[in-house]
Formats: sequence, C-alpha cells, structure tokens
Amino acid sequence: MSINEQVVQSLEVPGIGTTWLVSGFEEGRALLSDPRLSRDERKGPEALRELAWKNRAGMSMGRHLLDEDPPNHTRLRGQIKKAFTPRRVENLRPRAQEITDALLDTVSGEVDLIDALAFPLPMTIMCELLGLPEEDRADFRVWGAELAMGMDPTADRDKVAHGGKALRAYFETLLAELKADDRSVEDQPDLTRALVRAGELDHEELISMLMLLLLAGHTTTVNLISNGVLALLTNPDQLALLRARPELLPQAIEELLRHDGPLQVSLPRITVDEVEVAGATIPAGDMVHVVVAAANRDASRFLDPERLDITRTDNQHLGFGHGVHFCVGAALARMEAQVAIGTLVARFPDLRLAVPVDELQWEVNPILRSLVSLPVLT
Ligand code: HEM
Repeated sequence: MSINEQVVQSLEVPGIGTTWLVSGFEEGRALLSDPRLSRDERKGPEALRELAWKNRAGMSMGRHLLDEDPPNHTRLRGQIKKAFTPRRVENLRPRAQEITDALLDTVSGEVDLIDALAFPLPMTIMCELLGLPEEDRADFRVWGAELAMGMDPTADRDKVAHGGKALRAYFETLLAELKADDRSVEDQPDLTRALVRAGELDHEELISMLMLLLLAGHTTTVNLISNGVLALLTNPDQLALLRARPELLPQAIEELLRHDGPLQVSLPRITVDEVEVAGATIPAGDMVHVVVAAANRDASRFLDPERLDITRTDNQHLGFGHGVHFCVGAALARMEAQVAIGTLVARFPDLRLAVPVDELQWEVNPILRSLVSLPVLT
C-alpha cells in the first residue's frame, strides 16, 4: 500500500528525529485514542526525553495530567473531573452572564475585543473556580502569555522562564498560606482548597495541576471567543442567521470550534510500538502530532469543509481532542463561548471589524491559533 501523503507526512526535525504529522480526520481520531501512542516522553528515545525535560524545566512546570498515560493519568484526572461536569458548568452560566453583561456595559466605540471580553470572561471564571483574588488577574495574563510562547521553539526563552517562575512562585506562596491557615481550607468551596483538603496530590502534583488549570482554563477559551467572533464578522450571512435564529447558538459554537478553533495541532505523542497509518509504518520511538485544524476540514469527513455553516449537524470535530486526554474543560469552554458570543451579537447589531482583516496579527505559535488583538467597532 502506498502512503497517502494528504493524510500522513514525516519530517526530520534536527535534535528530535522523525516527526509524523497526521491530518486525516479518521486517522487522527483513531491515533488520539490508541494506547500505542503515549504522552509520556520517558517512554521515548533519549533525545526526546532531554528535550521535554529542558522544556519543562524552562517553564518551571512539573509533570501534569496531560503528560501522563493511564493509570497515573486516570488518578490525576479523577481529582478534578467532577468540578467540570456539564451540570456543575450549567450552575456557572448565570455568573458568566453577569460578568459578560458588566463587561459589555462598558464597551462603546472602538475596542479590542480580547481586552474587553474574550480575556476577562474566562479568566474571571477560572479565578473564581480556583479561589484566586481578582487583583492578581493582570499578572496571570502576562505570565500566561509568556508561558504560551514556550510552545514556539523560536520564542525568547528568558520570557518563557520568567512566566513559569512567577506563576510557580505564586502557587508556592498560596499553598504555604493555606497550610498555615487550616480554617480557610475547610471553609472555602473553591477547587484549590478542595484539592488541598482531599490530600490525594503531593506538593509537586498540586503545583503542576494548578498551573495547568489556570493556563488551559483561559488561553484556549480566549481564542475560541476571538477567533469565533472574527469568523462571524467575516461571514456576514452566518452572523445574520445567528441573530435571526439565536437557538442555533450551541451548534454555531461547535462550528466555530471546527472551522477555526483555538488548537491547530495536538500536543506530541510518542509511539511505544509500531503503528500503521494511511499506508505508512511509524516505528516505535517517533513523535506524532495530529493536525487538528486540518482534520477538522477533512473533506472525507465534513461536507464542504471550508464553508462556515452554523446549521451544520453531525459535527463531531477534534477541537477538544479525543481519547483519554479529551479536554476536561470542554463544557466550561462551550458555555463561556455561548454566553460571550450570544450576548455580544445580540447587543451590538452594528458590530464590525475596525481594521481590514488582512491587517490583523496572529501570534507565532505552532500549537495555538491566537489573535494578538481584535479591534472592532461597536
Ligand atoms: C486538554 C482544547 C478549554 C482544561 C485539552 C486538549 C485539547 C483541549 C485539544 C487535549 C490535548 C491533546 O490531547 O493533545 C481546549 C479548547 C478549549 C479548552 C479548544 C477552549 C475552547 C479548557 C478549559 C479548561 C481546560 C476552559 C479548564 C479546566 C484542560 C485540561 C486538559 C485539556 C486540564 C488535560 C486533560 C487530560 O489530559 O486528561 N484541551 N481546551 N481546557 N484541557 Fe482544554
């Protein structure tokens, strides 16, 4: 069988070895739930282990659940998954609406929609869930952006290191304060204190979990809201349809996730055994990325995939991943995007871009698809 190069390609990356990019939907989906692919770089060759170790040290982050395979992954995920069930998330919807309404009350004329809404909504919700004070949010934004740059191999490593050290130090101080004040741990209902109370995670696991939750809980949702608004503004027929039929909102959010979602490429996996994909044999010890953005526009899976169609049904995309690492915050991200985008388009009938679309700037990041800013006129 010959290799289907539209679905799988390999490239040689200096210092890493062979990396495989899988862009077919069915193939990508199957690989994301294949136990022969591991997220634990310790199961890979020396060069990869060293690289992952250096990256992690550079970001001051320990191993977290995204870096682990079952059964350790199952244990770690078990500590947080109940906080993000669809029912728990629905209870947060009125609060998300309240925050969105207050943010949009202050909007008039030209604004950067990321500053005005796409960033503060998910950040406020995540801080409230974790019990972190409001005044620390500006620091989290800077440190989070510096850490997200760590996904770009050409990024300024000093900045990445700065964000990592600062966020780690923040959580170290918080945990020390909680230890010194048992009453606060017993009294408060937030997730940080619940994790401390449960006592199932050791100190390093706790720090890594909190860093992961704070970062994963806002960066990607910021992108979903901002990329989503941009996609609607550049497809005015779909924006008009959403205004005319607001009941399409949940479907519209799924389509925005598929069409131009926050994640371009999955995090890397390592083959622990030989795997056949679309005519290619991937040997054990190679690195594999599923190109989520391409898989979500695979014409053999989605009809007319380039078209934004908010009435699309049968739309199970890979925007939140698949398999054991399927995004634990998917329900939360969906709810926040529904509230933010639904309210914005209902309240601002003249909403439009303040600059030509080709003047918008995108962050340099191989994994995340993030706008630098989204200037709009209300
Ligand atoms: C995992 C996407 C929002 C927390 C993932 C993965 C994807 C993803 C694709 C799997 C990565 C892989 O397997 O390579 C997104 C997108 C979001 C979003 C597109 C917003 C639109 C959130 C939120 C939270 C969150 C709000 C807050 C709790 C996590 C965590 C994991 C994860 C903790 C690791 C899960 C595991 O390893 O079991 N996310 N995410 N994400 N996400 Fe999200």
